[in-house]
Amino acid sequence: MKVLVTGGLGFIGSHTVVELQNEGFEVVIIDNLSNSSEDVLKGITAITGKTPIFEKLDLREKSAVQNFFKKHNDVTGVIHFAASKAVGESVEQPLLYYENNIASLVYLLQELQQKPEASFIFSSSCTVYGQAEKMPITEDAPVQAAMSPYGNTKQIGEEIIIDTAKVTNISAILLRYFNPIGAHSSTEIGELPLGVPQNLVPFITQTGMGLRQELSVFGNDYPTPDGTAVRDYIHVVDLAKAHVIALQRLFNKKNLQKVETFNLGTGTGSSVLEVINSFEKVSDKKLPYKIMPRREGDITEAYANTDKANNVLGWKAELSLDEAMASAWKWEQKVRS
Ligand code: UD1
Repeated sequence: MKVLVTGGLGFIGSHTVVELQNEGFEVVIIDNLSNSSEDVLKGITAITGKTPIFEKLDLREKSAVQNFFKKHNDVTGVIHFAASKAVGESVEQPLLYYENNIASLVYLLQELQQKPEASFIFSSSCTVYGQAEKMPITEDAPVQAAMSPYGNTKQIGEEIIIDTAKVTNISAILLRYFNPIGAHSSTEIGELPLGVPQNLVPFITQTGMGLRQELSVFGNDYPTPDGTAVRDYIHVVDLAKAHVIALQRLFNKKNLQKVETFNLGTGTGSSVLEVINSFEKVSDKKLPYKIMPRREGDITEAYANTDKANNVLGWKAELSLDEAMASAWKWEQKVRS
C-alpha cells in the first residue's frame, strides 16, 4: 500500500518512513526541504535497503498539491508532519505559521475528500492542553487557549480535521506528542536543528560536544520535586511506530470513531535536572549548566496518561529516557565527526 508522508525528511517524519518501509508500505515523501535535507533519503535507504519516492514540493502551492494527487492517484493514506514548529518564530511571524500549517492542511484534505475513502494521521501536540490541571494528562483534558500561533495551528488543525471528517469519507487519528527526542540506533538519521537549538535535548548534546558553552536551565523554582520543569520525553523510534499502528488501524477499519485522539508519551515525567543526569550517565561527561530565570510561556509539568494509547491503539513506549539520551548522544557525535 502506498502512503504519503509529508515532511518525511524531517525528524519524526524520517523515523516514521523507516518504520513504514520496515512494515512493507510503499512510501512517497513530500518535503520542501525548508528544515531538512535530501541527504536524509540516503540514511533511510541505508537502514531499510529501500529508497522512498521523493517529491520536492511546497504544500502551500495548491496547484502543486493537486498535481501530486493526479500523479499518485493511488494514495489514500496520509501521515501529515510537514509544518513549522518553532514557538518563538511563530510569535514573530504568525502569518507564516498560519499559511504553512493551515493552508497546506486544507489543500491536502481537499484532495483526499474526493476519494471514496481516505485515512489521515495528524501530528498534533500536548501543547493543546496548555498547563493541564491534572497529571498525568488524559485525552479528555480540556484544550486550553493556545499560548502561541504555533500552538494555535495545532488546535485549529485538529478542528479542521474533525469538521471535515464529519461530512467526508476521511477518517483521521490525531496524535498528540509529548516531547520527542533521540535518534535511530543506526545513527543514519536523527534530529538536525538549524542554528541554536531551542529544545532541551539537542542543546544538551551540542553542549556535550563543546559547540555550546553551557546549558541554561530555565527555572528551578517550579513546584516540582527538584524545582525544574517536568516533561514526558519519548524516544522518536517509539513515536514513529505509533504512526504505523495508527495508519493500520484506519486501513483495517478498527477505529471506533471517525476521528480518534491519542496521547503519545511514556507516562513518566522527567525534570530538566533528571534529563541532565541521564545525559551525564550515558555519555560519561559532566554537563556545564547554570540556572536561569524561567522561559516565558513554559509550563510547569506535562506527562501523558497512556492508558488509551496502550489499551485502545495497542501501542506502548518501550525505550527508556537513558536509551533515548544515549541514541541522541551517539547521533550528535556522528554528525560532528
Ligand atoms: C517545546 C514547545 C512546544 C513544542 C515542543 C516541540 C515551547 C515553550 N514549547 O516544548 O510547544 O510542541 O517544543 O518539540 O517552546 N529547557 C531548558 N533549557 C534549554 C531548553 C529547554 O531548561 O535550553 C527546558 C524548558 O524550560 C522545558 C524543558 O527544558 O522545561 C523542555 O523544553 P523543550 O525541549 O523546549 O520542550 P517544551 O518547552 O516542552
